[in-house]
Amino acid sequence: MSQETNFKTADGLAERLTRIRRELHQYPELSNEEYETTKRIKRWLEEAGIAIAPFPLRTGVVAELGGNRPGPIVALRADIDALPVQEATGLPFASAVEGKMHACGHDFHTAAILGAAFLLKDQEEELPGTVRLLFQPAEEKAGGARQVVESGALEGVHAVLGLHNKPDLPVGTVGIKGGPLMAAADGFRVEVKGKGSHAAVPEASLDPIVAAAHIVTAVQSIVSRNVGALDGAVVSVTKLNSGTVWNVIPETAVLEGTIRTFDEGVRARVLERFEQLAVRVADAFGTKASVRWIEGPPPVINDEALAGLAWEVANEQGLTPAVPVPSLAGEDFAVYQKQVPGWFAFFGTSGPEEWHHPAFDVDERALRLAANYFASLALRVLEEATKE
Ligand code: NI
Repeated sequence: MSQETNFKTADGLAERLTRIRRELHQYPELSNEEYETTKRIKRWLEEAGIAIAPFPLRTGVVAELGGNRPGPIVALRADIDALPVQEATGLPFASAVEGKMHACGHDFHTAAILGAAFLLKDQEEELPGTVRLLFQPAEEKAGGARQVVESGALEGVHAVLGLHNKPDLPVGTVGIKGGPLMAAADGFRVEVKGKGSHAAVPEASLDPIVAAAHIVTAVQSIVSRNVGALDGAVVSVTKLNSGTVWNVIPETAVLEGTIRTFDEGVRARVLERFEQLAVRVADAFGTKASVRWIEGPPPVINDEALAGLAWEVANEQGLTPAVPVPSLAGEDFAVYQKQVPGWFAFFGTSGPEEWHHPAFDVDERALRLAANYFASLALRVLEEATKE
């Protein structure tokens, strides 16, 4: 885990970032409620003399470095929100808020990108362009990236870089992959409307439970029959509600669940096929299905050229680059990648548990590594863009 750094303020950085991460960890806030978190980030930025940029966000904050020399804008993005999870780590800085926890490590991301900003601050005069820092709210509810885009903070951005901690990668390893990395995460709600009756007189009913059960079974064929074996997709029904009592056939049944895909073409095909099956199977049983989509973020698709640079910089920093296994979780960083080229890292944190677990944690030795890495990478992307 040895590492060369080009940055002269690296002394004391690990301790400073650890303090920041622990303070964030102790006071988690849910999506779109990150008011105190935003105040804290602003305070740390101001203490470091980093300029807040005037993009209108209710929670979250944008800041900027450089701009003294003409050049492109590179954005570094960290998400800042926590989850409704009751923490069970037993850490001295465990969540002080009942039922809320940084169980996805967004406290780590925020501290790491702040660290990158502190390092770049010392080279601000010489930056060949601008580094824009996006501290984004509401990643867990997938609305935050859109808020940042609507604020105008992505305008003029040449490339956007972001990271997620990865518990199953060791500290010192960076998961780097061009192309698809994380899945589009769409949700569905299907209402099957039939006709109720006495349970002893089923012939008088149009039973929505039987229809719903056939829909659940039918949609299992999408992945096996409508998606290529190498394309990857998930169709999961996670909720099925109907009825009130044992002797009444109810009027309606409701199904909910999620569809995960890595490719926009596959995504469109799976959603279309799902809707066809739900509507037609319901119809076959004399019931009626209506499908409501909860559109999630698109897939995270990494720019190949940026991934190449990321690999080089990892090697230069004494980190270990490795091609990670893609994740079927969703990540609204993808919303930025729809607008500008972007690259998203899986950063090794040797965690004891996976994302969203009550005992989730990160190895804090990764903080300084991530700060150095993203400062160096932002600088490299600016330099490369200036050459073009
Ligand atoms: Ni997360």
